[in-house]
Amino acid sequence: MSERGEPGSDGSEHARTLWHGRFEGGPAAELMAFTESLSFDKRLWPDDIEGSRAHVRGLVNASIITAAEGDAIAAALDHVAVEMGRGTFAFVESDEDIHTAVERRVTEIAGPAGGKLHTGRSRNDQAATGVRLWLRRELRVVAQRIVDLQTVLLNRAGEAGGTYLPGYTHLQRAQPVLLAHHLLAHGWALGRDIDRIRDTMRRVDISPLGAGALAGSSLPLVPAFTAAELGFAATFENSLDAVGSRDHIAEALFDLTMVAINLSRIGEEWVLWTSEEFGFARLDDGYATGSSMLPQKKNPDIAELARGKAGRVIGDLTGLLATMKGLPLSYNRDYQEDKEPLFDAMDTVRLGLGAITGMIATATFNTDRMQAAADSETGSATDLAEWLVMRGVPFREAHAIVGTLVRTALAGTSSLRDLVRDHPQLGPDAAALVAPGVSVTRRITPGGAGPVPVASQLTRFTEALDAWRAWTTPS
Ligand code: ARG
Repeated sequence: MSERGEPGSDGSEHARTLWHGRFEGGPAAELMAFTESLSFDKRLWPDDIEGSRAHVRGLVNASIITAAEGDAIAAALDHVAVEMGRGTFAFVESDEDIHTAVERRVTEIAGPAGGKLHTGRSRNDQAATGVRLWLRRELRVVAQRIVDLQTVLLNRAGEAGGTYLPGYTHLQRAQPVLLAHHLLAHGWALGRDIDRIRDTMRRVDISPLGAGALAGSSLPLVPAFTAAELGFAATFENSLDAVGSRDHIAEALFDLTMVAINLSRIGEEWVLWTSEEFGFARLDDGYATGSSMLPQKKNPDIAELARGKAGRVIGDLTGLLATMKGLPLSYNRDYQEDKEPLFDAMDTVRLGLGAITGMIATATFNTDRMQAAADSETGSATDLAEWLVMRGVPFREAHAIVGTLVRTALAGTSSLRDLVRDHPQLGPDAAALVAPGVSVTRRITPGGAGPVPVASQLTRFTEALDAWRAWTTPS
């Protein structure tokens, strides 16, 4: 649990807590061990300090503290930031979370002025503010990583040219599709992930600072002032809601879960593609692993873990949903449980995106294997039926004619091509469709898998990617 290990249990050396005035004894070691969050909310230090800086400016602005006091606290906060950044900040046993630790140190450095930092503020609005600042930044980072993956997919689609492979339904060969089409299918799905993150951002980008513990304050604080200082798009409308909701975190977790699931699906395909049975792709040595026992093995561990870790991320989402269910207004300590799943999901998805991006960027496609798999004669069955349709045959009838020929061909007496050539309603023109590489060129409709629509899809995806990228890198 705590990185600081199990504290002594007799409570003899009282940790001086933020609430010590009301309490005669110090906290039990077991309480500290079970309830601390420092071990995981430490990483919020830049956001906690940023929130405190804004709060101090708000206190000065409202003439609750003097400008000199504000300067002293701000200087102490700067000092703490340096210590945190250098890793020299000395945590003590009573630091139950990052907010407590920063305030304690500010008070040590700034003296009496430091004791005014927490005026009009609760850890409830403070912690909520810190996570929102963190999330606002990290969601954009994960969106950038998505754009990196989309860029690789686009580049590989561009260089794939006319390469085609079987398209599958039910994991059974269905119709040939361009490799570019297949790669961009994942690109568009990832684009929706960015769209979802953008939409979530509207609900993340709201300042809860000024809500206090739950009900606001008797002090003349102006929540809109600190919201603007922190660059939030809006401030809260209701203090109970501000400290008592986590739907924006659940939503961010869903967004991350969907990315994880998309990575998992890509991973599953690459597990198949790199198998000897498919042989569609070969991994670069840097993105594959060996076996400790079997010398010949080259394993797609990144692809597998993209699949496996999606399960963890789903657990992060469902865990938080279960935590939230049934909590009355407003803040409940249960909400401290919002951070670990959020951090875990964010870290997992960001690392997964990087690994999958590198894996796809460096892999080699075995285009001969792909095309050979797509060139089975039966892959043109739909083209033959549609050829008949264009000559006035009702589709259901055309389907039956071609189906019968396929059945005969599969029985092994003659090839589908010969059967088509000799069929009275088909003939040599139709037989020309039953040749390697022809079928994929027949997919001409917008959004389809053939060279004509894929060429315009590449253009549209390039434009869409520019827009996604522009959002992730604001000026
Ligand atoms: N570490 C706590 C959290 O993350 C801070 C809030 C504690 N608030 C309280 N009233 N005990 O939720």
